[in-house]
Amino acid sequence: MFFAVIVAAGKGERMNVAVPKQYLPLLDKPIIAHTIEAFERSPLIQEIVVVIHPDHEDIFVKRVLKQFCFKKFRKYVFGGDTRQESVYRGLEVLRERKKDFVFIHDGVRPFVTESIIERCAERVQETEAVCCAIPCVDTVKFSEDGTTIEKTLDRKKIWRAQTPQVFRVSLILEAMEKAFQDGFYGTDDSSLVERLGKKVALVLGAENNIKITTPFDFIRAEEILRWEKRI
Ligand code: CTP
Ligand code: MG
Repeated sequence: MFFAVIVAAGKGERMNVAVPKQYLPLLDKPIIAHTIEAFERSPLIQEIVVVIHPDHEDIFVKRVLKQFCFKKFRKYVFGGDTRQESVYRGLEVLRERKKDFVFIHDGVRPFVTESIIERCAERVQETEAVCCAIPCVDTVKFSEDGTTIEKTLDRKKIWRAQTPQVFRVSLILEAMEKAFQDGFYGTDDSSLVERLGKKVALVLGAENNIKITTPFDFIRAEEILRWEKRI
């Protein structure tokens, strides 16, 4: 079985607006509602857990839960100070589902598609761990100090990680607990599993599966949505 943990407990500081970015309306509904609906649409997903910031409980209940009728939404829990802690709080809800699989997804990536979900679901059953990513279109330079280039990396070997990242529940719990023990904080979930020496499979994401981080991303997101809806 496949579950989803959608993390939306961040403060959205880089977006620089009063309303936390996950609750900003993207055309017809808040970003987080688009994201939840994307997982609702996939017949593979059984249940959805959403991780929110305790200060955003009112806004989540009023602008999201009460406005939309989600069929697979199971519960919401409060996140922590880092994304990694927020993911862990969501995973704790699934502690009894150790043999099942969990899609970990950013609440501010509303354009995840059914085909991305399908590709991940198929692959994770063979590998126990997958990371959705896209090839890098730019040439990538390596610089230790940010002023001089040390070398040019081989672009063909560079992948830009996205979410969903999907794991067997037992594996990601083990990886997270080890990371916390070691005081390691990664910028994604796959890196925690990589630290265990376990192979993580790459699954092709999509250029449009953007993480809405800055005001420019928000404008891009509106364009993507208009294009998808052909309006
Ligand atoms: N996130 C979370 N808990 C945190 C930090 C982040 O659940 N303590 C979530 C965000 O809500 C977002 C996803 O992780 O859906 C990706 O994080 P990011 O884009 O960095 O969002 P924010 O941390 O909210 O933004 P910023 O870093 O600009 O403050
Ligand atoms: Mg952040």
